[in-house]
Amino acid sequence: MPLINWIDSYNINVSPVDTQHRGLADLINELHDAMLKGAGTSVIGEVVDRLVDYTVSHFDMEEELMRRYGYPGYDDHKREHEKLVQWVAPVQQAVRAGKRQVTVDVMKVLKEWFINHTQGIDRKMGPFLNDKGVC
Ligand code: FEO
Repeated sequence: MPLINWIDSYNINVSPVDTQHRGLADLINELHDAMLKGAGTSVIGEVVDRLVDYTVSHFDMEEELMRRYGYPGYDDHKREHEKLVQWVAPVQQAVRAGKRQVTVDVMKVLKEWFINHTQGIDRKMGPFLNDKGVC
């Protein structure tokens, strides 16, 4: 059973954002599966790298959209992105070095972040972007 079961109501009705959110959920689920299977450091590290790269590129895309249309909540939203990046960087480094395992607790943080962020601050920008013709 996947850690994150994608449901249609997760969509915020901005298709490039929704497509990437689904991709993020898939990668978090892939990492969860690898952890449950007891995959080795190199496999887990490779999935973590892909998850981090995808997340950073997703944040860049959202921030570019917000800047392009003058979204008033840009600064707060960007700060939330930075917080996640700052949390994940040392985790990624430690996993790569074999000094830290991806545990149930790490997966719990990722799942909670995913739900809270996409259904909170991301969802808030949906109607604004829709009004600008982005959907
Ligand atoms: Fe979808 Fe703000 O990250």
